[in-house]
Amino acid sequence: MRRIKIFDTTLRDGEQSPGASMSVEEKVEMALMLEDLGVDLIEAGFPVSSPVQFEAVKRVASAVQKPIVVGLARCVEKDIDAVYEALKDRPKDKRMIHVFIATSPIHRKYKLRMEKEEILERIRRYVGYAKQFFDLVEFSAEDASRTEVPFLIEAYKTAIEAGATTINVPDTVGYALPDEFGELIKTLREGVPGIENVDLSVHCHNDLGLAVANSLAAVQNGATQVEVTLNGIGERAGNCALEEFVMILKVRKDKLPYETGIKTELIYPASRLLTHITGLIPSRNKPIVGENVFLHESGIHQDGVLKHRETYEIMKPSDIGRSSETLVLGRHSGKHALRKKLESYGIKLDEETFQKVFEKFTELADRKKEVYDDDLFSIVSEVLREP
Ligand code: KIV
Ligand code: ZN
Repeated sequence: MRRIKIFDTTLRDGEQSPGASMSVEEKVEMALMLEDLGVDLIEAGFPVSSPVQFEAVKRVASAVQKPIVVGLARCVEKDIDAVYEALKDRPKDKRMIHVFIATSPIHRKYKLRMEKEEILERIRRYVGYAKQFFDLVEFSAEDASRTEVPFLIEAYKTAIEAGATTINVPDTVGYALPDEFGELIKTLREGVPGIENVDLSVHCHNDLGLAVANSLAAVQNGATQVEVTLNGIGERAGNCALEEFVMILKVRKDKLPYETGIKTELIYPASRLLTHITGLIPSRNKPIVGENVFLHESGIHQDGVLKHRETYEIMKPSDIGRSSETLVLGRHSGKHALRKKLESYGIKLDEETFQKVFEKFTELADRKKEVYDDDLFSIVSEVLREP
């Protein structure tokens, strides 16, 4: 099994989700939860961007023990100084600076208005500058997946020579396809001098719904670290979802010889805490943490699950810390599920009474999307009161 580092950026890129901003106290609460969850690195914010961001990085750095705490900086002196000020009290092996500059043609031409040489010069200068204060330096080539490969190799080579200990490959706009992103990682593994001595990280966005697939392809081609957020929150369509990536490795360990340090039974509590803090509710069918993902409504599925859960479940709710109440009664439910539900409340009915309850239940279920437990109690008492 190869151990993959989990770099969590819920508090930085995740917080860049519209509507996800968190107070300093909320970030600290979330960081403590991420520590319990077992992430290896926590990117706590972008200190130069505001006093609240600065304070949050500082407070997270003093609150958590085990994870490496990371602060983001552009290739600009004042950004790097701000990260250092926020993290300077933390032991050197527990703090990291993440410096980035864009490398793709479109960013070079319109955003940075810089030639390739200038960009390489900035990488050399500012990774070197950051290295004076930090043992651990991550360098990201923003929009790496849309950068010419020979230039990307040059950029990473320059960063490693200047002291980077992790090189990160962002698919900034979620444009890559899994096979081409995997191929890119392999090419970098083979083509960047010194890469065997550093961590090779990936940071995938979800604009085409491929963030998790691209991260997985990267790991299968040699990436040693994956950048993720809880519930997949982040800029635009979000980032690679921690819970999806981690559970893929767990559920398909027959095919995927990789492990993480995540305590999966804390995934759901962590997801709920984030929802509670930000008010951003994952869609009901969001893999792993959505409300529907362990519910079975059709009669055939309910019957199967009641006979053996693995007929329609590839993981247990308890694997991610969820309760195992999985039957939702509705129009597609059959007699078996109804009987089980009633029995779970200790209600045992003779066959004739049960038949009447079932008829009333199907009438109601045709009118209502879901039949709640209270509805069932009313039906049962109504039937029992009938002469
Ligand atoms: O998406 C991105 O490119 C980023 C960088 C700062 C790594 O978030
Ligand atoms: Zn990002």
